[in-house]
Amino acid sequence: MKVLSGIQPTGRPHWGNYFGAIQQYIALQNEEQSFYFIANLHALTTIRDGEKLRQNSLDTAMDLLALGLDPDQATLFIQSDVPEISELCWLLMSGTPMGLLERCVSYKDKIGKGLPVVTGLFTYPVLQAADILAYDSDVVPVGSDQVQHIEVCRDIAQAFNHNFGEVFTLPKPKVLDSSAKVPGTDGEKMSKSYGNFIEIFEDVKPMKKKIMRIATDSRPMEDAKDPETDHLYQLFSLFADEEAKSEMASMYRAGGFGYGDVKKALAEVAVSYFAEAREKRAELESDMDKVHQILGDGAARARAKAGEVVKRAKDACGV
Ligand code: ADP
Ligand code: TRP
Repeated sequence: MKVLSGIQPTGRPHWGNYFGAIQQYIALQNEEQSFYFIANLHALTTIRDGEKLRQNSLDTAMDLLALGLDPDQATLFIQSDVPEISELCWLLMSGTPMGLLERCVSYKDKIGKGLPVVTGLFTYPVLQAADILAYDSDVVPVGSDQVQHIEVCRDIAQAFNHNFGEVFTLPKPKVLDSSAKVPGTDGEKMSKSYGNFIEIFEDVKPMKKKIMRIATDSRPMEDAKDPETDHLYQLFSLFADEEAKSEMASMYRAGGFGYGDVKKALAEVAVSYFAEAREKRAELESDMDKVHQILGDGAARARAKAGEVVKRAKDACGV
């Protein structure tokens, strides 16, 4: 299986991103080929601050490494370090029907949210198709919001293959399981856009404060409660082992406990769950040469592969 996924460097990851996406795609790193990249060219459609984009890209790379991405197993690189992608994007764009992109909901959503209407937002899925096709990827782990882009990628590849011969491998999406939506501090789905998130690498003190402020209901302490429908318990169960979970669940069912104690227990398990990653991240941050070296090695491997595929495409279409 040849796995590839891209992540936009648009901010620091929160618990929802970890359990809903990052953890799941890092788990695929031992496949025959696994490529993960920081989609800085895609982020350029929304970030208009060079220094910020550069720093976000490095931060995202360090986040992934700290969370378990092993650069000896997987190839980690920054999208723009493989210029072949931009070249391939043009080859693909030349045969991509306008109507295909006009149907993309992600573009319409972004415009709807008031983002400036730039061509890059519109052609975003073609660049994404180039990312995928350049490495002969066959499986693309993504959140459900990205499935349409993988379908567009298949359509683009099919159109090219139809015109010029069998050049590209058709990829399939592997939809990440976000059925267990991670709740935020207000009980709604955790999201950057709702301001209800807790970042993985947030400093411990403010993190604990946020946890202590998680919204709870005002039922009397002595009431028995159903753990499965309580967002505080749902958060706790992401981090706790089976024994701790069933102990906590029994406490809920028996009643006679305070939410403050649950929050303290949550803070404890959450801090220890990410303790190793936090340490690893601090280590990386103090050795930026190593980070640059990992990304440089990754880019070299990615370029070697993309170079082959782009040559195949150019030969086929006569440029
Ligand atoms: P946000 O809503 O914070 O902007 P993104 O849309 O950037 O998050 O999400 C990136 C990935 O993380 C997606 O694949 C999404 O499915 C996953 N994800 C984000 N928030 C949650 C959540 N609360 N629960 C489960 N998965 C989530
Ligand atoms: N568009 C993806 C997102 O916003 C990021 C991305 C860019 C990507 N290129 C990709 C994901 C290629 C998978 C494959 O999440």
